[in-house]
Formats: sequence, structure tokens, C-alpha cells
Amino acid sequence: MSMEMDMSLGCNSSGVPLLSCRNLRVSFGVTEALRGVDVDIYPGEVLAVMGPSGSGKSTLLHALAGVVKLDTGTVTYNGSDVTALSEAERSALRLSAFGFVFQFGQLLPDLSAVDNVSLPLLLAGIPRRRALQQAKSWLDRLGLAGFGDKLPGEMSGGQAQRVAIARALVNAPKILFADEPTGSLDSLAAENVMLTLTDLARATGTTVVIITHDPRTAAHADREIIVRDGLVTSGSVAFSQASDVPQ
Ligand SMILES: Nc1ncnc2c1ncn2[C@@H]1O[C@H](COP(=O)(O)OP(=O)(O)OP(=O)(O)O)[C@@H](O)[C@H]1O
Ligand SMILES: [Mg+2]
Repeated sequence: MSMEMDMSLGCNSSGVPLLSCRNLRVSFGVTEALRGVDVDIYPGEVLAVMGPSGSGKSTLLHALAGVVKLDTGTVTYNGSDVTALSEAERSALRLSAFGFVFQFGQLLPDLSAVDNVSLPLLLAGIPRRRALQQAKSWLDRLGLAGFGDKLPGEMSGGQAQRVAIARALVNAPKILFADEPTGSLDSLAAENVMLTLTDLARATGTTVVIITHDPRTAAHADREIIVRDGLVTSGSVAFSQASDVPQ
């Protein structure tokens, strides 16, 4: 496995990828959502995934995170073949190493902000008092001091997204997967959420894979890839040539 991985490293980086995939194919019935995708994601980078609606971006994210069944292909995390793990092992990997933020609706509506954020810590077996303390300090870092007792429905969209980011970061994931995390926000709130997210990711060394339609959001990333019709075009040259990326 490691031989195979060494031979397939990206040619324009000397680092070793934290997460990579080779020849990913995923279909839903007759729809081929991914048609042979290779991606390398390097430790600490913020990678934007762009491309038209229906092109396979979310499917790629789910495949990389190990939550969708592959037709063929391999996903390698930290040198290990994730596709060879059992479902229970993959789920343990997700809990310990991956964080997720989605477009909306991911907060539990009946739990306060601080309870939402402390949930992953409680699931990981951290005692309640310590979990609540850590959750509070993440809310403070995200500019939400004083919002701990609010329910998601009592906050603005941008505030709720920052709670979701706090919840995704609270147990120090190695990789944060974000699927259009600012897609439901106005441009100012989106800008704030992106600045917060990228600042925190860079301060903590967290790798971020973020799907976005918004070039201003992508501008916060270190690198963009484009997914089109189930295939990936990598790199800034391909990006500048892509004339039909949604604005
Ligand atoms: N659960 C599913 N069942 C059937 N088809 C699906 C399913 N999920 C995705 N697809 C199909 O796979 C293709 C890729 O979908 P995907 O959600 O990955 O696109 P996307 O790039 O994330 O689009 P968007 O920007 O609209 O979110 C689409 O043709 C979609 O209809
Ligand atoms: Mg999508």
C-alpha cells in the first residue's frame, strides 16, 4: 500500500498527502456521480471544491469521508487504506479525525448552542463539566460569548453556522469537511464565517475541504479543484481556464 501511495504522489508537491483518493467511482443507479477521481489533500491546507450543480462535489466529499459506497477506487488517510476498514472502524475514524459542517440544519434545534457544541465531546466520553467548559471557550473564540444558552432558532444564520463550526472543531479533527457552509448566508455573514473558519483552521493546523459555489469563499482557500461531470480538474491553471464555473 505504501509503495503504491509513494508512486502516486502529486508531482508538484514534495509533501505527503494526509488524505488522497485514486480512481474513485461512485454511481447511484444509472447515474455515474464520480467517474474516476484522483485527489491529494495535504496537511494543513484549505482546499476549495468548486463546480456546477450536480457535478459530484458532495459525492466526492462523502466518498473522501467514507460515508458513501464506492464502486471502485481507494481512499487513503494518513497512509492507511480507509476502504479496507470495517464500517465500525470507519465510523470510529470519522468520530476521532473528521469534522463536518453543512449548508444548514445540522444543529439540534432543541439544544442550546453550548449543548450543541459539547455533543461531540460527550460522545467521546469527556465528562460533562469539562465538555461544557470547552464548548464555551470555542463559542468565545467564534465571537459568540453570551450566546451559549440560545437555541439555534434564536440566532441568525451566520451565528448558527459559527456554532456549527465550533461543534465541528471542538474535538480537534484533523480534517474539516464543509459542504457549502455559507450557502444560506448573505455575503457579509458568509465572509465572516469564512474568515473565522480559515483563521481557526490555520491556527490549529486543521486541514479543510470546503465545497462552495462562491468565488469569494474560494478566495480564502490555498488551492481550488473543480469537479465537472464526475471528474476533477486540479490546480490553478485549470481553474483559470474554467469559464463556466457558477458565479
Ligand atoms: N442519493 C442519491 N441518489 C441518487 N442520485 C444521487 C444521489 N446523490 C447524488 N446523486 C446524483 O449524483 C450526481 C452528483 O450529485 P452531487 O450531490 O454530488 O452534486 P453536487 O456537485 O454536490 O451538486 P450541488 O452543487 O447541487 O450540491 C447528481 O446527478 C445527483 O443527482
Ligand atoms: Mg452538493
